[in-house]
Amino acid sequence: MSENVLISPSILSADFACLGEEVRAIDKAGADMIHIDVMDGHYVPNLTIGPAVIKALKPHTKKPFDVHLMIAPVDPLIDEFVKAGADIITVHPDAGPHLHRTLQTIRGHGIKSGIALNPAVHADVIDYVIDDIDMILVMSVNPGFGGQSFIRSQLDKISALREKIDRSGHDIILEVDGGVNPLTAQDCIKAGASALVAGSAVFKGAGSYAENIAALRGLKASQVA
Ligand code: DX5
Ligand code: ZN
Repeated sequence: MSENVLISPSILSADFACLGEEVRAIDKAGADMIHIDVMDGHYVPNLTIGPAVIKALKPHTKKPFDVHLMIAPVDPLIDEFVKAGADIITVHPDAGPHLHRTLQTIRGHGIKSGIALNPAVHADVIDYVIDDIDMILVMSVNPGFGGQSFIRSQLDKISALREKIDRSGHDIILEVDGGVNPLTAQDCIKAGASALVAGSAVFKGAGSYAENIAALRGLKASQVA
């Protein structure tokens, strides 16, 4: 089963001086999606990239753009990220006053909607929006920075969310983000994750991206077609 897990490398750990090249490299190395961390220096204590950069990266790959918005208020900027080429937009429930409306707005643009749960946020937050989401992103670190350690208490949350998704009968991606490496990846998959975000574990060692991505699936690069 772990071979089938979707891998979404976070370009937060890429070389920002040559992002187009980095996106082409992870595409070729077997990434299923491209994870883009958008931070505003307000919702999280870091500033990263905005719609102009996403738009510039779009022609470099056909893989879906998995856009993780860590900005507040989030609603005024949704349209800009859709126009820039987002295929999935994930928002935090505390980044705006009306989560249900935000999710409807995202889907109204004909793209997928996601909800991101910070480490202290309960799995039950999704109960009344489960019909309105295509992805749940479990933050296994506090949002803001790459390279942090995996918070193990999130494994129980992943299992609880897996049960909720299976009970709903909906096709919802269960993604884990933060501190994912070949070891913690296996724990996440066992708990029920269907997608993994990884920044530092993918972008370490130029030229090793295929091997790094395969390792997250529990494989050697030579085992990947
Ligand atoms: C943190 C971001 C993550 C981060 C993951 O706020 O949402 O996507 O880049 O980085 P690693 O894999 O290095 O923990
Ligand atoms: Zn992220």
